[in-house]
Amino acid sequence: MTARRIRPPKQRREITIEHDGKRYPAYEGEPLAAALMASGVTVLGRSSKYHRPRGASCGTGDCGNCLVQVDGMPNRCACTTPCHDEMVSESQNVIGSAENDLLAMTDWMFPRGLDHHEMFTGLPLVQPVAQRIIRKLSGLGVLARTADSSAEREPRPPTIVDVLVVGAGASGLAAAEVAREAGAEVLLVEALNEPGGRRLGGLHCSPSDAKTATRKLLEMGVDIWPDSGAVQIDRTQGVLEVLILRPEGLFPVRPRATVLCCGGYVSTGVFPNNDLPGIMAAEWAARLITKWGMLPGERPVICADEPIAKALRELFVKAGAPPVRVLPISAAYADVWPGNPPEKLVTALGGKHVERVIVENAAGTEVVDCDLVVVASPPAPAFELALDAGAHVAYEEQSGGFAVRAGPEGGTAAENVFAAGTLVGPCTVEEAHAGGRTAGEAAATAALTLLQESYHSRENRDAS
Ligand code: FES
Repeated sequence: MTARRIRPPKQRREITIEHDGKRYPAYEGEPLAAALMASGVTVLGRSSKYHRPRGASCGTGDCGNCLVQVDGMPNRCACTTPCHDEMVSESQNVIGSAENDLLAMTDWMFPRGLDHHEMFTGLPLVQPVAQRIIRKLSGLGVLARTADSSAEREPRPPTIVDVLVVGAGASGLAAAEVAREAGAEVLLVEALNEPGGRRLGGLHCSPSDAKTATRKLLEMGVDIWPDSGAVQIDRTQGVLEVLILRPEGLFPVRPRATVLCCGGYVSTGVFPNNDLPGIMAAEWAARLITKWGMLPGERPVICADEPIAKALRELFVKAGAPPVRVLPISAAYADVWPGNPPEKLVTALGGKHVERVIVENAAGTEVVDCDLVVVASPPAPAFELALDAGAHVAYEEQSGGFAVRAGPEGGTAAENVFAAGTLVGPCTVEEAHAGGRTAGEAAATAALTLLQESYHSRENRDAS
């Protein structure tokens, strides 16, 4: 994989970071994975147990392929962790480095698989040693001795808002705007460090649309928390509480109504070796080029349908790397796609990176040399939070995931919990925007009605 910097990212200070004891140039705020890839470091992690090489593939912090230890904190996603000057990161759960990991021997020593749960369980004397090895093989990072032990903090008092919007993609931004226009106090939380969702890579529309929408929300008085993922939703005595994980810790939020716009999980398709470094989601590849001035590969194979295929092709041509092949998305899902796909991506091949793919079509079998495979698949809805809240979900064939069942106004089976965007099924950015507006309006109405009811009951109590 021949990733390289094609231009410096706009308005970013040049800094220096350290990874596995070596120093690298980077730009302030860019994802650690982008900075390392620009310097040729593409193996960022190893799979648990078999220690196969892993690179940044989703770019959204969802797949866990790029986990590293950053400034003493384990399990930070290199794809979503912004660089700062003198940041120190290390490969985790390896002997050596992610690039050259001695534990990769496990993969060929146990070709039939390894059950680490039962390893050495009958030998009490060797167990302590075995456990350390197994921990190294299959664990996830180690807390540094110098890590901040004040993590056990006093619980924070809950933030009370009329409408909480979870996720700042097209639907979330629209929901927040409409709810605020209706007079509700709105908090918008986003797991990534900037709002925009699918707009950020510029494949679906200009990233500046997201910037304009965010600026407008701030002017309207919407409270926006970036780097803030909703991790739990609970209802105690009728009151909804959502736990938000921020870099500073956990923040409980009690909204009168919630709009879930959590988006979906991207996938890199179903074919052998789809986990090799250099196989990545289209949104991530696009964001690397447009936002971070990073070309993730010189000889890309693109798996996408129109119009995304065209947008990706243009992006790579403009960046100086015309695709070596454009395949329909069915090629990346050949084993699960209904009917006979026109072309089938039989397998990816490579050692520590993808080096070629084998493609089958009516003309026969073809080997395509490449250093990057970019897949634009329909995201599978991120339904877990909605399910926790009490919403109903159902299997959704197109994305191969579970989508939230929502009514025409975005209402779900959970009281005062609304859903919009990819969470309720595959949709275009325009459809997500429209769904967000409808759900935002319904949530504001529900929240303001609740607020009025509580005023009335307080007045009645005071009067009696
Ligand atoms: S979590 Fe970083 S690439 Fe998926």
